[in-house]
Amino acid sequence: MKRDLLSILDITPAELDKLIDQAALLKDMRIRGKPHALLPGRTLAMIFEKSSTRTRISFEVGMADLGGTALFLDAQDMQIGRGEEIRDTARVASRYVSGVMIRAYRHATIEEYARYSTIPVINGLSDIEHPCQILADIMTIREHFGDRKDLRVAWVGDGNNVCNSFILSTVLTGMEISVASPRGFEPPAAILDTARKKGGRVTLCHDPEKALRDAHVVATDTWVSMGTENERDARIRAFSGFSIDGRMMDLASPEAIFMHCLPAHRGQEVMEEVIEGPRSVVFDEAENRLHAQKALLVFLMGDKEGNRMRK
Ligand code: CP
Ligand code: NVA
Repeated sequence: MKRDLLSILDITPAELDKLIDQAALLKDMRIRGKPHALLPGRTLAMIFEKSSTRTRISFEVGMADLGGTALFLDAQDMQIGRGEEIRDTARVASRYVSGVMIRAYRHATIEEYARYSTIPVINGLSDIEHPCQILADIMTIREHFGDRKDLRVAWVGDGNNVCNSFILSTVLTGMEISVASPRGFEPPAAILDTARKKGGRVTLCHDPEKALRDAHVVATDTWVSMGTENERDARIRAFSGFSIDGRMMDLASPEAIFMHCLPAHRGQEVMEEVIEGPRSVVFDEAENRLHAQKALLVFLMGDKEGNRMRK
């Protein structure tokens, strides 16, 4: 059976641990210049409905490192941009390539694609989740804190795709997450319910100071995600008081790190002194997209998994 990563909960805790260990190994090999062409002859198609810097570069370089090829496909230039059905595109691409990564406006688009695809499908960001980001974030957290079990994450800001994947990931990692969002911008109730039913420890409030208290990881993201640009002014007003500044960081644990998936907006969700300060790990986090996704690609597209891959 082919495996997909549409949600961070598509993998088990044991698989997550294995992926992070493998990512650390691949990082070390890359730094030491040791070849690791584990996916020779494989091709990853990357379909983008929205802009990207990190996701595009890290998947493309990742496939090159692994001895394969990545195809960048702008959805607007494809026939899906002119109305060809997703289910037809999915079946056609399954005949050409070994895996597909999609960044789409609607999560349902990626789900429909995966239903018709006979090769692994990776969610490269939707309106609901950003699982690849969270793989890299967990890797970064483990680089700093090892496998400590007492970690607390404070998410301050929009209850968006990255926040949702962070919340769901607590089911796999055992970390506790405290979310502070303005009223009307909380994570969806369905995400909170799923996480709690599966044993995740999530609390929700509207007070950043409360969420930040003693946190080991302070995380935020843009207030204006792709697809919400028409709400920009109202959002910037609603999020006033939710900027992470030095004073906010001081409420967290003295060992706290600052995380942001990037792109960042200095002066909005984070202040210069924090993102450029000593506790910021944002560039390690961005780098780890590459290593974590390479481990994921090998897991989903490598020979051993027995998927119906076409070389
Ligand atoms: N963090 C992230 O996914 O960045 P891009 O939008 O640049 O891919
Ligand atoms: N929440 C942001 C993440 C960008 C990587 C967005 O969806 O635009």
